[in-house]
Amino acid sequence: MLCQFDYQPTQGLLKDRVILVTGAGAGIGRAAAKAYAAQGATVILLGRTISKLEAVYDEIIALGGAEPAIYPLNLEGATWPDYQTMADRLYETFGRLDGVLHNASILGTLSPVQSYNPELWQRVMHINFNAPVMLQQALTALLEQAEDASVIFTSSSVGRVGRAFWGPYATSKFATEGLVQVLSQELENISNIRVNSLNPGATRTQMRADAFPAEHPDTLRTPDEIMGTYLYLMGSDSKGVTGKMFNAQPDR
Ligand SMILES: NC(=O)c1ccc[n+]([C@@H]2O[C@H](COP(=O)([O-])OP(=O)(O)OC[C@H]3O[C@@H](n4cnc5c(N)ncnc54)[C@H](OP(=O)(O)O)[C@@H]3O)[C@@H](O)[C@H]2O)c1
Repeated sequence: MLCQFDYQPTQGLLKDRVILVTGAGAGIGRAAAKAYAAQGATVILLGRTISKLEAVYDEIIALGGAEPAIYPLNLEGATWPDYQTMADRLYETFGRLDGVLHNASILGTLSPVQSYNPELWQRVMHINFNAPVMLQQALTALLEQAEDASVIFTSSSVGRVGRAFWGPYATSKFATEGLVQVLSQELENISNIRVNSLNPGATRTQMRADAFPAEHPDTLRTPDEIMGTYLYLMGSDSKGVTGKMFNAQPDR
């Protein structure tokens, strides 16, 4: 599996780039937003909890990063007009988009398919898969305005090899992998947009703690420690790399 865990970016790798991160208020999305801003990007922080997005905004300013933008959006309730409005606003403000990290997801519960609550199944599939599809559809034209654009969809180990009891979470990640293969081929010869999937691997976040409550968090890398591949894929060093599956950690 491809991995750039030890990738060391040239300082200013993402200078003047405009990058949208979903689920930017916590966990891996928060770390990625900060890592991108530290490399010079203007980051659009998308998420559902404004106070968390504001805290990340403050952290980026304190680090000396370019002023980010906050875009509150709940992927659960957003509909196609919301995504169109968002694309219009981003076009008016920035004129283009250089990258998107589709990161926001929910876990749902761990239980057998047979007894899985049907409403929760639909929620997980919607937030983890259908919403990112609509968001991507709305943003592709903006990405086409960039010279060299990168789209990263967040996968998971259980989106590559199925595992009992992971129900719609695993299924949504398999669908995400399929989307990456379809979309990367469609865009390859007609645009400068590359599309790849990235599995962060076991990482010290709230989602991981919810999935493995008995696990000691100290046995896991923090989001800040796994940013190598996130940076590699977002910057120009990965130009021409598309339709590939990446891992953020070599051993997870
Ligand atoms: N951590 C791991 O070990 C691990 C392993 C494999 C894959 N992943 C994947 O990595 C990504 C990040 O996971 P994480 O561990 O950082 O999870 P996390 O700590 O639970 O953070 C998820 C983020 O997504 C946001 N989000 C959830 N539902 C949303 C919605 N309806 N609309 C907008 N934003 C929403 C959350 O916002 P709020 O904070 O406001 O709830 C939060 O900022 C996910 O795609 C996950 O599947 C994680």
